Amino acid sequence: MPWNPNTYQKFKQQRAEPFNDLLELINIRSGLKVIDLGCGTGELTAQLADILPNSQMIGIDSSTEMLEKASKLTKVNLRFELEKIEAISGLWDMIFSNAALHWVDDHYTLIPKLMSMLNPGGQLVVQVPSNHRNRAQETIKEVAAEEPFHKAMGSWKWEFPVLPIDVYAEIIYLNGGQDIEISDKVYPHILDNADEVYEWVSGTTIIPYIERLPEYLHEMFKNECRMRIRAIWKKGPLIFPFRRILFSALKRF
Ligand SMILES: C[S@@+](CC[C@H](N)C(=O)[O-])C[C@H]1O[C@@H](n2cnc3c(N)ncnc32)[C@H](O)[C@@H]1O
Repeated sequence: MPWNPNTYQKFKQQRAEPFNDLLELINIRSGLKVIDLGCGTGELTAQLADILPNSQMIGIDSSTEMLEKASKLTKVNLRFELEKIEAISGLWDMIFSNAALHWVDDHYTLIPKLMSMLNPGGQLVVQVPSNHRNRAQETIKEVAAEEPFHKAMGSWKWEFPVLPIDVYAEIIYLNGGQDIEISDKVYPHILDNADEVYEWVSGTTIIPYIERLPEYLHEMFKNECRMRIRAIWKKGPLIFPFRRILFSALKRF
């Protein structure tokens, strides 16, 4: 199942909250070469481009569906490219990523690589979900571990790669970081009912499972997840507490 920009954007307002917090961490300077990793539909990349004067911004993403939307926002200082985060190279004054690095494995390797791609004085600015213990996430994992899904996915299990914040701080420091700011924050989203929780996760968390399941099991998997999520939140409005890590660091000279 590819990324669906419309499903993803349904919770646009809630998803903008951590992005706005991330913007607060930005060291605004002029004339920067900036990359946004996993830029999605590009609106937030464009907002970032607007606050960095005389800068050149590129958004990369591995989804053609998301980039199709993003490409409409292209302008003289902003372009988008189909690229995997794992494959990026070059030297940058700012490496930015909002809600995308949790799709890349092995942050013990990823974060040092990103730090090595910063010019001295350059900034790494990241927001990544740390909500893998959320009840909806646990429910999806539980369904995926049962048959017929488990076998159909070749016993694949999603190992959430996001690390504790103290570990990130250490990796960043050991790889040339300074002025490290890092926090774990809960965004207490209020949703109307359990089906909204399902819609939220169906725009993100469910995707890697659906990608690995044969088509004849897609609806069965989704229905099972939907039913169990309904059983957790029997009435609304409800709180969907969403935990996220935000961090920023500068590369030492
Ligand atoms: C949750 S969306 C975030 C989009 C955007 N940063 C935002 O905040 O609105 C995650 C994005 O990461 C992209 N993505 C996932 N894995 C990726 C990878 N390995 N390389 C590049 N992009 C990836 C997806 O296609 C999706 O557009």
